[in-house]
Amino acid sequence: MTSPQTAETRNPYLEGFLAPVGAEVTAADLPVTGHVPEHLDGRYLRNGPNPVAEVDPATYHWFAGEGMVHGVALRDGKARWYRNRWVRSPGVCAALGEPAPAPRSPRAGVIDGGPNTNVLTHAGRTLALVEAGVVNYELTDELDTVGPCDFDGTLSGGYTAHPLRDPRSGELHAVSYSFARGRTVQYSVIGTDGRARRTVGIAVTGSPMMHSFSLTDKYVVLYDLPVTFQPAPALPTAVPRWLQQPARLVIQSVIGRVKIPSPIASMLSRGAQGSGGFPYSWNPNYPARIGVLPRDGGNEDVRWFEIEPCYLYHPLNAYSEIRGGSEVLVLDVVRYARMFERDRHGPGGDSRPLLVRWTINLATGALTTESLDDRPQEFPRINEALVGGRHRYGYTVGIEGGFVVGDGSGSTEMSTALYKHDYTSGSTTVASLDPALLIGEMCFVPNPPSGSGANGKARDEDDGILMGYAYHRGHDEGQLLLLDAQTLESMATVHLPQRIPMGFHGNWAPRA
Ligand SMILES: [Fe+2]
Repeated sequence: MTSPQTAETRNPYLEGFLAPVGAEVTAADLPVTGHVPEHLDGRYLRNGPNPVAEVDPATYHWFAGEGMVHGVALRDGKARWYRNRWVRSPGVCAALGEPAPAPRSPRAGVIDGGPNTNVLTHAGRTLALVEAGVVNYELTDELDTVGPCDFDGTLSGGYTAHPLRDPRSGELHAVSYSFARGRTVQYSVIGTDGRARRTVGIAVTGSPMMHSFSLTDKYVVLYDLPVTFQPAPALPTAVPRWLQQPARLVIQSVIGRVKIPSPIASMLSRGAQGSGGFPYSWNPNYPARIGVLPRDGGNEDVRWFEIEPCYLYHPLNAYSEIRGGSEVLVLDVVRYARMFERDRHGPGGDSRPLLVRWTINLATGALTTESLDDRPQEFPRINEALVGGRHRYGYTVGIEGGFVVGDGSGSTEMSTALYKHDYTSGSTTVASLDPALLIGEMCFVPNPPSGSGANGKARDEDDGILMGYAYHRGHDEGQLLLLDAQTLESMATVHLPQRIPMGFHGNWAPRA
């Protein structure tokens, strides 16, 4: 899958736990250690980058690999099947020697590189998701590709990998960005019918990489941060050499100022993919701001708050409450001091991902930053019944070594840990996992209410299951882990027929 790596071309995003796999596998009736709860009836799905063709380690960027979804179906206490499938974008079809897909609507996105970042179900559809104007795809229950998804033609220009489901309405809220949108990002609400019912253009400073956002009961929170589209590496190779420098200057002057017509955006994106480069990087001239938009507001209603330059991919949760007569906004996030400043292969080489809490007094505008843990960690998740409201618990994956910049010891061997943060007590519990295990993101699956009907009793916030893929180094085995979220003890391990590379995001998809 990759060219041989030398010391000069070593790329940690192609090694060990992150190394791609080369085959699509289907396996039934998987062996299980422990007990899969009978109430689990559905699929655990997770997306991640997995190059379909040979890549050059010198230029490969982790975020650029083609999307591969790994799924395990659970039912009646058994692990029914495992499947992994590349999402059939045109490039994947070509690399696999399959017929090209039918021409798609240009509304679905400006780049058709294949979604590699998240996978979830909404309105009866399984959706493989990605950001930056890249086309999203619908999959079947068995992970075959149906085709591009633009929410029945109600949303154009791409979506995001990080929508948030309002636990009260079931609607998907999202903020989408793309270099082709000009100096705007788009807030959208997808109804429970799978169609966009609201879109709002929000003016930003330029063309930021806005990986995600936060949602509270009252507000949409935007992170307009200094990782921006830098078009130079994306210059299409079709431009004659003598025209490349002038073309670069023109493109740089245009990006982020005006909307780019779809054919030009496609040409730029082909150039980016062809070069193996990644077109977003640290921009020291770009301001760092948090935007707070009332859910029903418009662009003119956004309040912006300046913060220290930094980057974030993933909020843990956000909520607002009244303290001492003032409304405060609490934002729990994983923050990086720098991103893509020097590391051109992925997110871990410039600074460590740290869990912080920003508190904004919406009456005075005062903002405070509180560090919650000094260990590097990522992939924050909560019980998503609490999205937008006050949460007590958060779950994150501790990452040392590997692709994460180290503590100066020079150690590059990767290790992971599972942290359970209790925001009420201020304590953190570390799961006692087998030291040979490397884990990825763990999503929270709530246990069903005890009793039924009027006798149904709400569960505690942490009464549920943490679910995610792991790699057991000692056994060279991929596993699906089910842990008790209250105790962090193992409930079940599903033994998988192949290693699953550490990827991005996954979710439990209950059977409809
Ligand atoms: Fe993400």
